[in-house]
Amino acid sequence: MIFYFTGTGNSQHVATRIGELLGDSHIKHIAEYYDDVLNCKDFFINVDADEPLGFVCPVHSWGIAKSMKRFLKKTKINYQGNKIFAILVCGDNCGKAREQLQETLWKRSHLRCDFVCSVQMPNTYIVMKGFGTDPDELAAQKLADAEQQLPIIADAIINNKPYDHYVIGTHPFLKGRVVYPLFMAFTLSDKKFHADSNCISCGQCVKNCPEHNIRLNSQKRPEWLGHCVKCLSCIHRCPKQAIQYGDITQKMGRYYYKQ
Ligand SMILES: Cc1cc2nc3c(=O)[nH]c(=O)nc-3n(C[C@H](O)[C@H](O)[C@H](O)COP(=O)(O)O)c2cc1C
Repeated sequence: MIFYFTGTGNSQHVATRIGELLGDSHIKHIAEYYDDVLNCKDFFINVDADEPLGFVCPVHSWGIAKSMKRFLKKTKINYQGNKIFAILVCGDNCGKAREQLQETLWKRSHLRCDFVCSVQMPNTYIVMKGFGTDPDELAAQKLADAEQQLPIIADAIINNKPYDHYVIGTHPFLKGRVVYPLFMAFTLSDKKFHADSNCISCGQCVKNCPEHNIRLNSQKRPEWLGHCVKCLSCIHRCPKQAIQYGDITQKMGRYYYKQ
């Protein structure tokens, strides 16, 4: 069983590919459990001991994406097997995401990953000045490198081989203990999202939002509802590139994983 979260498809691809390589067809987007996680006080999932248990999620602000953190915090996962792994999908580096995932999983489910690694995929953080999508060549290189890396990861998981690939980056402590909490507390507001005149009211943003945080208003324009996790699915997947964030994103590129 592999649980994943994704905004722009990178982690979904990693989860699916690893599932294929492990021969595991139980691949679940944690958005499927959205209502249970939010509303059920004692939500639990049983995972068969015969299959591996995996988690795949994007790195957000050098920690784990908010939706995955909430899922792990609120869900008691019952698993008696002995193969637990996590793959952290970043644009550059992961800081303390590994420790954070381990701590959160342990607190609720008393489970510990035997295997954690990172995979670099194209960057998606475009809602702050100084950041942006990767140049095409770099994005293509990251995708090609990841394709080479995934079979090695699967082999290491299946055969309990050591595999020490985790890109931590600089100042992990500061990023993990200071920047991440500040990011989660102060930058998740969706007030700056809006659709420009290119919007064709197709509703893709509504469908693509894993948090059910967008609806079309009476003028058929998207409206954000105040519980965004900044996965940026809406902005990157809009077929008309009509979604903007303040005045930062007009000239920024867009990216989502295409098969
Ligand atoms: C809000 C946000 C914060 C991010 N923070 C980081 C980060 O701290 N380190 C990093 O390497 N990449 C960061 N990224 C880039 C993503 O981790 C990366 O592009 C990932 O592959 C996206 O996965 P997804 O397509 O499954 O959503 C961030 C992206 C977003 C949207």
